[in-house]
Amino acid sequence: MFAIVCVSENWGIGKDGNLLFHIKDDLRRFRELTLDKSVLMGRKTLESLPGGKGLPRRHNVVLTSNRDFTAENVEVTHFPVEAVFAAGEDGAIIGGGQIYDMFLPLCDRVYVTKVFASPEADTFFPNLDEDPHWQVECESEIFEEDGLRWQYVDYVPHEEEEDEEIAALLNSRPSEETMEFYPMPDLGNFSSFHGF
Ligand SMILES: NC(=O)c1ccc[n+]([C@@H]2O[C@H](COP(=O)([O-])OP(=O)(O)OC[C@H]3O[C@@H](n4cnc5c(N)ncnc54)[C@H](OP(=O)(O)O)[C@@H]3O)[C@@H](O)[C@H]2O)c1
Repeated sequence: MFAIVCVSENWGIGKDGNLLFHIKDDLRRFRELTLDKSVLMGRKTLESLPGGKGLPRRHNVVLTSNRDFTAENVEVTHFPVEAVFAAGEDGAIIGGGQIYDMFLPLCDRVYVTKVFASPEADTFFPNLDEDPHWQVECESEIFEEDGLRWQYVDYVPHEEEEDEEIAALLNSRPSEETMEFYPMPDLGNFSSFHGF
């Protein structure tokens, strides 16, 4: 999964249920990166979209605890795990604050639009620059539109950390229980050849 977000200088993302910025080029990029994919969002973010409807040409998955909630062009889910399965491994996490916090650990990439401004905010994204799990993979030049300056920055998990996780996995010995479920294959002559 990946996340896509537009943040202010102090990682603010919203105020009073609305976005902080409306940058045409950013919205175009958001559309490009999410078109024909699943997008996973919280009920509050859905209600901030035009008409409170799912985004066109996307499979919209919405998480809410309200059993009676319905909306146009939306698959409603009530549990995080249900939402993740509905969105699939290529799905995009598109906000807001609660949803980013919950699903960020499942993401292998975060597309951040960093705006060089600090309007007041009441909802925030975790500061990836202060999180050792994340590293910048690439950053764009700085753009400007209607007096606002911004930059696109892609974050990915730290390579070393990933390598360590893979090494730990490869070095881990299967438990007795796992061996019962996944017994060693019959290696026949091959095993005696290797002196097993
Ligand atoms: N800058 C950006 O890129 C960006 C992107 C998206 C949104 N935003 C902004 O973010 C703000 C909204 O964020 P938010 O954190 O207030 O709301 P949100 O994350 O969009 O939605 C929160 C809602 O999700 C549902 N939910 C959360 N955890 C759940 C769980 N475990 N089980 C079932 N339902 C669960 C609840 O809905 P119910 O109350 O119905 O149960 C909850 O009220 C807005 O200002 C919006 O404009 C910014």
